[in-house]
Amino acid sequence: MVALTGAGVSAESGVPTFRGEDGLWKNYRAEEIATPEAFASNPKLVWEWYNWRRDLIGSCQPNPAHHALAKLHDAPFGFTLVTQNVDGLHAKAGSMDVLEVHGCLWRIRCDSCGHIERNEIVPLPEPPLCGCGSPLRPDVVWFGEQLDPVLLSSITEALSRADVMIVAGTSSVVYPAASFADYASRAGAKIIEINLDPTPLTSRADLSLQGRAGDILPSIVEALL
Ligand code: OAD
Repeated sequence: MVALTGAGVSAESGVPTFRGEDGLWKNYRAEEIATPEAFASNPKLVWEWYNWRRDLIGSCQPNPAHHALAKLHDAPFGFTLVTQNVDGLHAKAGSMDVLEVHGCLWRIRCDSCGHIERNEIVPLPEPPLCGCGSPLRPDVVWFGEQLDPVLLSSITEALSRADVMIVAGTSSVVYPAASFADYASRAGAKIIEINLDPTPLTSRADLSLQGRAGDILPSIVEALL
């Protein structure tokens, strides 16, 4: 089994989603601010957003959806957890070996010298500077950037072996993650979508469960274990 999670899985923990009503920050959309171009032209503004998000997310706790998925690591079948979320809440709930497609908000890195570190200090100076003098950035994947090819190959390997894939709390509009379900489906997996609302994936899913991830995932996991 593979599960792919998105911002909706963390919504019940108080983390704002990207495309919901609370998705805007100071009238900016994520697509405008989470880009290498935005960082190059205004690293202070980009870090203001990340400081705001790190501050907010730092006090959020995993919810029943995260806890349910963490239990699946003990399942008698193989389980791989793939997330688009950068909030670290799956790991906080005890999930191991989470494949974080879009990176992690709690790591920062320097694209000039390659320095990378775990960092939970909030707020950081805007922008924080590396020892080499260049601005440090969050170790997340921005719009227009490629996913880590090693990570991507681990994900496609898990997708190609899966019998069942759960796709929970994602609007299924950001690629390549939005193509993972089709990849798994072509390889023979049944797709179960969990979302409050219909998405572009809904009509192609084998089963579409409309509701809160924090209600539905614990029921599924309880039935499986
Ligand atoms: P979105 O904000 O696009 O979508 C969240 C989805 O979760 C929506 O379809 C909601 O209907 C659904 N939802 C909200 N609350 C829910 C709940 N309690 N239970 C179930 N579903 C719920 O978030 P993502 O699809 O994760 O990328 O966004 C994908 C990427 O776009 C993010 O990883 C981020 C963003 O820009 C980067 O930062 C690179």
